[in-house]
Amino acid sequence: MIVTREQTRLNPIRIGDIEIKTPLTLAPMDGMTNYAFRRLCREHSGDDCGLVCTELLSSNILTGSGARSRYKFDWQPDEFPFAVQIFGSEPAMMAESAQILEDAGAAMIDINMGCWVPKIARKGGGAGLLRDVCTAASVVEAVVNAVNVPVTVKVRAGLKRDHPTAVDFARLAEEAGAQMIAVHWRFAEQGFRDDPVDWSVIGEVKAAVKKIPVLGNGDVKTAEDAMRMMDETGCDGVMIGRAAAGHPWLFKHFAHKIRTGEELPSPSLAVRAQAALDHAHVMLETDDYPEPKVALHLRGRLHQYFDEYDVLAELRQSLVRVNSIAEIDALLEPLANGEMSLDE
Ligand SMILES: Cc1cc2nc3c(=O)[nH]c(=O)nc-3n(C[C@H](O)[C@H](O)[C@H](O)COP(=O)(O)O)c2cc1C
Repeated sequence: MIVTREQTRLNPIRIGDIEIKTPLTLAPMDGMTNYAFRRLCREHSGDDCGLVCTELLSSNILTGSGARSRYKFDWQPDEFPFAVQIFGSEPAMMAESAQILEDAGAAMIDINMGCWVPKIARKGGGAGLLRDVCTAASVVEAVVNAVNVPVTVKVRAGLKRDHPTAVDFARLAEEAGAQMIAVHWRFAEQGFRDDPVDWSVIGEVKAAVKKIPVLGNGDVKTAEDAMRMMDETGCDGVMIGRAAAGHPWLFKHFAHKIRTGEELPSPSLAVRAQAALDHAHVMLETDDYPEPKVALHLRGRLHQYFDEYDVLAELRQSLVRVNSIAEIDALLEPLANGEMSLDE
């Protein structure tokens, strides 16, 4: 068999002893990547979504009262391989938290070194750790020594543009035992600003580490973007965040395009409606929130399943106002059952 360049682009990677069959992975997103959405990614993309990750959890709450964060312990064996992400600044507290998560079944621990939100970064957690790469590496070392599961890190280019740290940190993190590094190309001070995309730091990190895989992250919206990121930076895989919201099939579609050069057909309205319904019902079943709070959360999520359809503006507006699961069912079941369709 002739191995085309396209096929070699999606080689499996190893994170410690865990095989990631397709190096297209779901980025952690607070308020978005809960179990319901991660499971949808598994169902619609299978192994083409190589790895999923929880929303970030605070190491402080974990070791403190515990109660407030337990509702975020939402992972299940059926979503393997998955990582559980924590943030914090104290090596000992991070290590203790990681142990608690491992005991609770975490298959991998991911350390957040990208969160720029002031209440986290100013206290030295998230991207705040990048002020001092030695402290950041000591957090990695403490967590690696505390658990048997693989430890990974998600990092930004640095805290401020005048002080890039990702490359120095990546070397230290690998020495400290990190098994994979995901690099979001922006500096923390850029937040999510639409500045001109510059993936060069991802290539610099890939060139700096000796053997662990590097995932590139930031502004990958199409399969072509993913290919270009891998080509330009040499990264081993791509982590995708915002583009996947409301599109759990995205990984399968990207993988197919990269492997064959061909597009899969866009999911039908019925498939989208059923996915949105599944999102709502799985969240209701598996989340500790009471129904009104689940509905409130879903206001921000379900409209994303229909964002390609200009003619569905009214449906989207209704979805952002729902107060109950019954309202969601009433809006979406006729679409899911094919009782309503659009001429496409
Ligand atoms: C709403 C939202 C929440 C996020 N929450 C997290 C988080 O909990 N942990 C983390 O490491 N990154 C978080 N991120 C950053 C994403 O993982 C990712 O790095 C960023 O969105 C860039 O990738 P993208 O362009 O593919 O979305 C978040 C991003 C968004 C938009």
